[in-house]
Amino acid sequence: MRIFHTIAEIREFVRQARVKGHSIGLVPTMGYLHEGHLELMRQAKKQCDTVIVSIFVNPTQFGPGEDLASYPRDLDRDAAMAEGVGVDAIFNPVAEEIYPSGYSTYVDVERITEKLCGAFRPGHFRGVATVVAKLFNIVKTDYAFFGQKDAQQVLVIKRMAADLNMEVEVITVPTVREHDGLAMSSRNVYLDPEQRQAALCLSSSLNRAAAEVGAGERNAAKIRQLVIDLIKDEPLAGIDYVEIYSYPDLEPVELIKGSALLALAVKIGRARLIDNIIL
Ligand code: PAF
Repeated sequence: MRIFHTIAEIREFVRQARVKGHSIGLVPTMGYLHEGHLELMRQAKKQCDTVIVSIFVNPTQFGPGEDLASYPRDLDRDAAMAEGVGVDAIFNPVAEEIYPSGYSTYVDVERITEKLCGAFRPGHFRGVATVVAKLFNIVKTDYAFFGQKDAQQVLVIKRMAADLNMEVEVITVPTVREHDGLAMSSRNVYLDPEQRQAALCLSSSLNRAAAEVGAGERNAAKIRQLVIDLIKDEPLAGIDYVEIYSYPDLEPVELIKGSALLALAVKIGRARLIDNIIL
């Protein structure tokens, strides 16, 4: 497995892969890899001849006071894990390679970025869309793989790719969970054992909601309130949002019919955790 730090190097690697007639798959990450990322890479390996993983803690998607400086980083560990699932190359640029002095261009996806995480993290999706657009342009990938845990992120990227006529197929991979249901996240390392236990309220409340819908409840406000009450029972948990929207359009829903996204963001200690389920 090769590790590249510059745009010129990764472009040359892609050029050589293309000469061999290879299809290219990209797994964009911010590193500190976990089983969820490895699952994206395995899917990419199944579908593409050459798989590239980008590892870049993207400063433009962090707001003031967020965890940009403390975001966990360990390239050696990440490289060993990626190599273990057969990744062909890692692209690990420094911030100045992606945002050189004078950098002034950003991608703003409207409307679907105004709710859920977009409402609580102003500018977050502008940073995500910008860096992903740049990665798509740098790698010229055929396929790109993202996790369903970041449901809104995937919708934003699909919207951007469609609106800007990008020749890339965006593939969504189901959320990977720990044995007890906690969605895998690089930010889980912020949790101490007591907080880790408290964090189970996210997945357990989602499962309870799914069971209620399975039993015939269709009233979105009731389901939302049930989830809020369940999370409020956990003293260490602070809710940012619990919302139900139509999926994939993210329009308000009163009655759950067709696909609906139940999404939540909850702060536990210094970790802000997100999770979701399609009802
Ligand atoms: O999901 C992430 O890790 C990031 O938001 C992404 C897509 C790599 C962009 O920085």
